[in-house]
Amino acid sequence: MKNIVILISGSGSNMAAIVRAAEQERWSERLNARVAAVISNKADAAGLEMAKAHGIATSVLDHKSFASREDFDAALMAEIDLFSPELVVLAGFMRILTPGFVAHYAGRLINIHPSLLPAFPGLNTHQRAIDAGCQFAGATVHQVTADLDHGPILAQAVVPVLFDDTAEVLAARVLTQEHLIYPRSVAEFFRNLPSY
Ligand code: GRF
Repeated sequence: MKNIVILISGSGSNMAAIVRAAEQERWSERLNARVAAVISNKADAAGLEMAKAHGIATSVLDHKSFASREDFDAALMAEIDLFSPELVVLAGFMRILTPGFVAHYAGRLINIHPSLLPAFPGLNTHQRAIDAGCQFAGATVHQVTADLDHGPILAQAVVPVLFDDTAEVLAARVLTQEHLIYPRSVAEFFRNLPSY
């Protein structure tokens, strides 16, 4: 069985969408893949309870208890590697990762970003899209490389920006699409594996 490890920091709604898709689409039988663990850098991440309720191993690694980014990433890698993952999925994981971490998971580390990359890497994407007068916004699933929010694009979803949108309203519209494209991209990753 191939393992997926998901990293979260917050509500974990993308993680939940992937867990639900794995169950509903019977990934363990059809793709030989399962969500093995969910790891959070915040103890109060809401998604942890959902993961536990679905029988998934969870752990918390608080970045504040490490002296440096390198130390945190080394501990995180050790925790992740307990599960020998085929794929590591960043789902709202609000940490900038060191080049060593990214290199360690080269080709098996993906992220979802709430903009149509390469537009609006970084934070506050929805407000920036509104301020720029964009007529469309969206989300991008991409491979993670050392260059923040710039790895090869795996999937995108587009939504309209409406004239009275606030960042919150637009974020919710985009998030609905994230929940569709992220599980699809994960399934696609396993379908494309040479051993599949
Ligand atoms: C999503 O908008 C995702 O694109 C971004 O962070 C947010 C995480 O939301 N990277 P959730 O924790 O998956 O609900």
